[in-house]
Amino acid sequence: MSSPVLRQHAETAFAAELAALAAHDERPRPPRWKLSPWAVTDYLLGITLKDGTVITPKYVGDRRIIEIAVATLATDRALLLLGVPGTAKSWVSEHLAAAISGDSTLLIQGTAGTSEEALRYNWNYAMLLAQGPSEAALVPGPMFRAMKEGALCRVEELTRIPSDVQDTLITMLSEKVLPIPELATEVQGTEGFNVIATANSRDRGVNELSSALQRRFNTVILPLPSSLEDEVDIVRMRVASMSKALALPAEPPALEEIRRVVTIFRELRSGATEDGKAKVKSPSGTLSTAEAISVVTNGLSLAAHFGSGTISAHDLASGMVGAIVKDPVQDPVVFKEYLETVVKEREGWKDLYRACREQI
Ligand SMILES: Nc1ncnc2c1ncn2[C@@H]1O[C@H](COP(=O)(O)OP(=O)(O)OP(=O)(O)O)[C@@H](O)[C@H]1O
Ligand SMILES: [Mg+2]
Repeated sequence: MSSPVLRQHAETAFAAELAALAAHDERPRPPRWKLSPWAVTDYLLGITLKDGTVITPKYVGDRRIIEIAVATLATDRALLLLGVPGTAKSWVSEHLAAAISGDSTLLIQGTAGTSEEALRYNWNYAMLLAQGPSEAALVPGPMFRAMKEGALCRVEELTRIPSDVQDTLITMLSEKVLPIPELATEVQGTEGFNVIATANSRDRGVNELSSALQRRFNTVILPLPSSLEDEVDIVRMRVASMSKALALPAEPPALEEIRRVVTIFRELRSGATEDGKAKVKSPSGTLSTAEAISVVTNGLSLAAHFGSGTISAHDLASGMVGAIVKDPVQDPVVFKEYLETVVKEREGWKDLYRACREQI
């Protein structure tokens, strides 16, 4: 038997949910789609089906955002998910591809070193040298396969790709073809093909999209969670599933602990206390929901292996300091000031105040 994988693809992890949705789905499906746009939206936001099957929510937020994203993919325009770090861009993109094409693995990771070949195709060089260019020597990339199979291709961190390489996408997105000049032929995109790209609006060293490329995308902005309750809910949901996957032998964290972490993150991020009464300085890091999730997961691991098995302020403090203090000069000052003026004064937060002060 092979060992269990660390992280399953969405289509595998949620295969039962996808099958149940497909069985109940009576609405029209665009060509090659596994589910109707309506059912895809239900898959992302969660619903209880008529027979009682529970579809868990993957995305917590405004339904309209997901509807616009899904509707875009049913047109000839590609989808660009834009937002600050940790707003679930990659997560939504994976689940959209899983629900629509049943395959979230056609993925191109954008980096400063992404080449045109990564977006198009490559060659088996031994064969190329021996026989010259031939179909057999051609190694298709994810975009090539998505076009042939009528599936969704994901491009992560599109704006990290050098501008001239980005522009390779223009022909694929507008003409829906991928030319192969070496073989004097082309691959034509088949029904169901489309592209979901993600890009970070906060990163340094990004390459802005050319306006020609921008016009081929519908941009959907994923916002930070609007309320404390929503954000607590996201962290609770993700921590529960991650601690299960990691088999952490600890009690699930009390909602109150998650609420404290999320409150601190939100206050430092927004520059004001939740009640709006006091201003606070913001540290240099992004303090995203994703980081709150890892602070709590780390805390759970510490509690499980070195603590009492129940998460305490002490277990949370080190992860929290690590997430908040990114700039070694400025951030400790900002965090200390916040600890003294806000955390120390708060009813029942003394343990957290002390635990954090020990760390910085
Ligand atoms: N609104 C939300 N609903 C559900 N999960 C969320 C939400 N916001 C953040 N998350 C969680 O945050 C984690 C990080 O998300 P993800 O990696 O997709 O972020 P990202 O926007 O791609 O960030 P980056 O710009 O750093 O790549 C995921 O585990 C996701 O479940
Ligand atoms: Mg991402």
